[in-house]
Amino acid sequence: METSSKQLHIGLAGLGNVGSGVYKNLIRNKDILQERTGSQLQVAKVAVRDLNRQREVKVAPEILTTDWRDLVDDPAIDVVVELIGGDEEAFELISAALHARKAVVTGNKAVLAKHGKRLIELSEEKNTPLYCEAAVAGGIPIIKAVKEALVGNRIDSIYGIINGTSNYILTRMTKAGISFAEALQEASDKGFAEADPSLDVNGWDAGHKAIILGWLSYGRWLKPEEISVTGIEDISSEDVAFADSLGYEIKLLGVIRQDQADERIEVRVAPCLIPRTHILSSVDGVFNAVAVHGNVVGETLFYGSGAGQDATSSAVISDLADAAKNLINEVGCTGFVPQGDYGVALPIEETISQYYLRLGVVDEPGVLAKISNIMGENSIGILSVIQPEPKEPSTHIPLVLLLHDAEYGKVSNAMRKILALEAVETEHTLLRVETLEH
Ligand code: HSE
Repeated sequence: METSSKQLHIGLAGLGNVGSGVYKNLIRNKDILQERTGSQLQVAKVAVRDLNRQREVKVAPEILTTDWRDLVDDPAIDVVVELIGGDEEAFELISAALHARKAVVTGNKAVLAKHGKRLIELSEEKNTPLYCEAAVAGGIPIIKAVKEALVGNRIDSIYGIINGTSNYILTRMTKAGISFAEALQEASDKGFAEADPSLDVNGWDAGHKAIILGWLSYGRWLKPEEISVTGIEDISSEDVAFADSLGYEIKLLGVIRQDQADERIEVRVAPCLIPRTHILSSVDGVFNAVAVHGNVVGETLFYGSGAGQDATSSAVISDLADAAKNLINEVGCTGFVPQGDYGVALPIEETISQYYLRLGVVDEPGVLAKISNIMGENSIGILSVIQPEPKEPSTHIPLVLLLHDAEYGKVSNAMRKILALEAVETEHTLLRVETLEH
């Protein structure tokens, strides 16, 4: 690959929220980028779905096309930026670009979580780089941090608030008292949510990012169907209030861990209670934060905007700058993980944490004893119990328990028995309490 007169010719596929941000900010910081990379970063062609759509940025009509293949087939284009979203067509686009030996920049976590193994193999086979800084945590440079700055560490654990939309919704529900639906609408209006926001609220956007972090940390891909993902849809204001009174915040958390003595990798996403004494609990709104524990560096924390046009385009542009420098220096594939194979996921039943359990129970003698017996039979210790005095006479009352560290398999076994008790309602909440020790 060669650059003509140190220009990086960019083919931009997708001119939605992030694509427009990339286009706009490349112009805004053109001089800085040229000074720092030694190249002019020039958008040469843009693929859009609809030529007539009104857009925030003005693009010369002669560089617009409705077919991304025009970018891949254009010999003058050095790098293709994939911002079309989705997975299958994006996979086709990225594969075609790598086959054509064009560097690729993508912010697409779904395509990497599903097809990352194949795409990285292809990137290596074609000795053509695939960059993905924008795929995890928006503007936070976490990919480069884990890949480069922490390369000398064994990664003990990563705990991350890695979905801006969910965090925004939880913060607005907690601090402004607005409804889930209103908060989600705000997040969509601000350009934080995915085109399909169900991926944000059902936890899968964070799940895809957690798979990428697992691969970066341990060199292995886990298949989406092997990890456990729960979203924030069922979080109630009652649980938020109980968590608050116990000294916790509820956050959607991605956990990526591997025990040194076990090759299985723990990757999971779920809303959890985080102690208010931990800095992650104060990460609010669209902000993301990723706590990485390395065996050399110890604890590190990366914080910043996790979604939105400018934050995400900052990450895309950093990859374009790398592409420009690597092209000048004739650096090919920038592979950085020793193995790209599939790994083995730690089954969710074997994962260990503390738990918060809210039950609705009949207010009669002996109920608590029955519940604690079942816990005891499953070797689950009870850390504390709250049974708030009812404000008005009621036959059913909430009962909140905090449980000691326990395997999920044991907790779920105990839950089956507890929910079968006549005095216990089926509607309940079971959330992990993460102490965030590595
Ligand atoms: N929808 C994503 C989020 C965008 O809210 O975090 C950034 O990946």
